[in-house]
This record gives sequence, C-alpha cells and structure tokens, in this order.
Amino acid sequence: MKLTVVGGGSTYTPELIDGIAGRRSTLDVDEIVLVDPDAHRLDIVGPFSQRLLDHAGHPAKVRTTSNLEEGVDGAGAVLLQLRIGGQAARRSDETFPLACGCVGQETTGAGGLAKALRTVPVVLDIAERVRRAAGDDTWIVDFTNPVGIVTRALLEHGHRAVGLCNVAIHLQRTFADLLGVGHDDVTLEHIGLNHLSWERKALVTENGVTTDRLPELVAEHGEKLAEHLDMPLPWLRRMGAVPSYYLKYFYSHDAQVARQREEMPRADVVTEVENELLKVYQDTEVVTKPDQLSQRGGAYYSEAAVQLVHALTSGGPAEEHVVNVRNGDTFPFLPSDAVIEVRSTVDGSGARPIPVGPVAPAQAGLIAHTTAYEYLALEAALKGGRDRVADALLAHPLVGQYEQADRLADDLLAANRQFLPWA
Ligand code: G6P
Ligand code: MN
Repeated sequence: MKLTVVGGGSTYTPELIDGIAGRRSTLDVDEIVLVDPDAHRLDIVGPFSQRLLDHAGHPAKVRTTSNLEEGVDGAGAVLLQLRIGGQAARRSDETFPLACGCVGQETTGAGGLAKALRTVPVVLDIAERVRRAAGDDTWIVDFTNPVGIVTRALLEHGHRAVGLCNVAIHLQRTFADLLGVGHDDVTLEHIGLNHLSWERKALVTENGVTTDRLPELVAEHGEKLAEHLDMPLPWLRRMGAVPSYYLKYFYSHDAQVARQREEMPRADVVTEVENELLKVYQDTEVVTKPDQLSQRGGAYYSEAAVQLVHALTSGGPAEEHVVNVRNGDTFPFLPSDAVIEVRSTVDGSGARPIPVGPVAPAQAGLIAHTTAYEYLALEAALKGGRDRVADALLAHPLVGQYEQADRLADDLLAANRQFLPWA
C-alpha cells in the first residue's frame, strides 16, 4: 500500500516512520510519500526517513514531493499532519489571549479558535483534491489540530475521515507502566472530546478475568499522576476518573495563565527542539530515531497512527481504537452529528463509537458547552466574519463574557489577517 503524509516535512515524520519500521508485520506499506510545500524540509526529512527504514530492514521506499495531487495518487490512506503558519503562528496563539487574562494554548480557548480558522479551509481544500486525485475510497486520517473541529469539517463535507490524537494512547502506556502490565493489556474507557477527555476505566485482563484497575491506579500512583496532570491529589482521588492533561487549562485556568505569563511560549521551546532535530536528521551517520524527539508532545503518535491505518485499510477484522468520530447516540446530551473522542470499533467501513454508560453531570456539562463552541468555531471558519469569531468565543467555557470575547476576536483577527482572506 502507498501511504501519503501531508505535512510530511514535519520534524514529527521520523516518529511516524519509526512506528512503521517497527511494525512491519502490522502494516503492509511499500511506498511512503511525504508531501510538503517546504522543499528544504523535505530534502532533510525524506532521506532521513529512508535511512530509518533501511536500517530497520523495512522495504518501503520514501518519495518526497511538493505536488499534492502527485503525492496522493493511488494512496490507500492519507495522513494530515500540517500546521498552518508554523511555530510562528502557534506562538501568536499562545500569547495574544494572555492580555485578556485568558489561557494561551494552541488548541484550547482563543488560540485554538485562531488555529481552527487558519486550518479548516486549507484542510478542506486538501481533502477535496485528495478525493479527486486518489478517489473516494482513500481514508483520510486527521492528526491536524484542532482535531475535533477539523474532523467535523471533513465529515460535514462528505470525506472519508477519522480524527486521531495521541492523548489516549499516551495515558494507556503511562497506566500500563505504572501497573506493571504490558502496554496492550490495558483497555481504556475514554470519554469526551479531543483535548477534553477523561479516562473512566482502565480495564486489565489477566488469566481471563477483566478488572477495572483505575481505582487502584489512583490509590497507589495518585501522586505521580497528579503531578503529570498538574492537578491537586485530593481532586484526582475524588473525581473517579483521570482527566487528560488538557483539562488543566479548564480546572486550573488562572494558575496556568499566571504561569504562562512567566514562561517561554511552548512554540519557542519547540522551535529550538526542531532546529536541533533538523541538524541530527542531516547527519548521514544517524540511522535511528534521536532522543530529542521524545521532547515533543507526540509520543506514541506513530503507534496510534499505524494501528488506525491498519484497521482502516487491511480488510481484516474490526479493531478497537480511541478516535474522533460522529457522536450518533453515544452521548444523548449532544447532537448526533457532533464529533466526539471515544473508543470505537474500526474496520474498512470506518469507525463507530462503542456505547458508554451515563456521563457524570460535571463532565457532560463541560463536553456539551465545549461542543457548542466547536459548532460556532466551525461556522466562523467556514463563513468568516468578525462577529462569528466573537460569538464562538462567547460560547467558549473559558471566555464567556462580552468584553473578553470582543477584545479576543479583534486581537485574533489582527494577528491572523495574512491567513484569513475574509478578515
Ligand atoms: C500532544 C497532542 C497533540 C499536539 C502535541 C503538541 O501530542 O495530542 O495534538 O500537537 O501534543 O506537542 P508539541 O511538542 O508540539 O508541544
Ligand atoms: Mn492531540
């Protein structure tokens, strides 16, 4: 199969390639095409990716191109991992909201809205061209943030798309390590939206008996988890679920803002890591994934992506993966066309959410509130207009006031004009 990576010049690509190289028996890929407008990046990341595969004895050939149509022609799956405006735009997302006392984050709050506005039209254009060049059957796996909004945009426009994030697999691996069981022995009950999720159960099967070991995990490893998630231990103990680390921007919003005002923006940290990585990638002696890559947030992204592409394209039996998918009747408090992030059954016909039990009021409330924002954010991204931007911000649980919504809307547009033809 041919696998195409749009945004293939990303420093994350070797993470993905490493996953493919290590799972030769799982995913039958013989051609990997990296598509990126940045030819310089492709000249570095392409040859390094080939070296990783060669060193692992994987037969796949890597090709690079800046021509999307050529890159996706004949592809069985297309992975979208792009970042419109690069780290410079991310830096703006992480800093302009701070002036209003709001969190500066690339996927949460006003920064996440800015990213959605920049990204949705570009991804839709790419998806349309993929459909024309590669055909209706080609699966689009979207890792491009904000994944929930982008995935809903793709589905609304009739694309064969599934949204993917590494938060669930990262927590699965973390839990497994803490419990001292194999990575694949833990099954999470993951509920919520992308970057707004909770693990409610950590099911472990041993000797044919399945037990929920989440209570034990919190009782015995609560301190480590609380530190990792930046939340107070008593709250973790009482919550009865483990929130993802993105919930800190909600549950400890003001403390995060205070910290962000002091710290270097993540975009600047990542820029430094990327510069180092690009240097390492150019060293022809290097044939394995460098350690510096673990300083990025995308750990296990490759494994999640490889497993998901396999489930969608192999023609084999259904598998279970945590993905971004239409709600249907999973959460009765949301419209059926909302996009949620839950464990789903995935095969060649797509992903279908696995039913979950009733959602606690505090979680349901936050999910519903954020979904309302995501609807308005998509409206704004598709139709443009300053007031639509302000309306989406008023609906965001972290904004919610006229004064902030107005100022954030104006600041967002001022900072993003070059990406928004309508602004
Ligand atoms: C996690 C999230 C991704 C996000 C990444 C940021 O992996 O799930 O959606 O893009 O972190 O990592 P970075 O190293 O760029 O800060
Ligand atoms: Mn993510």
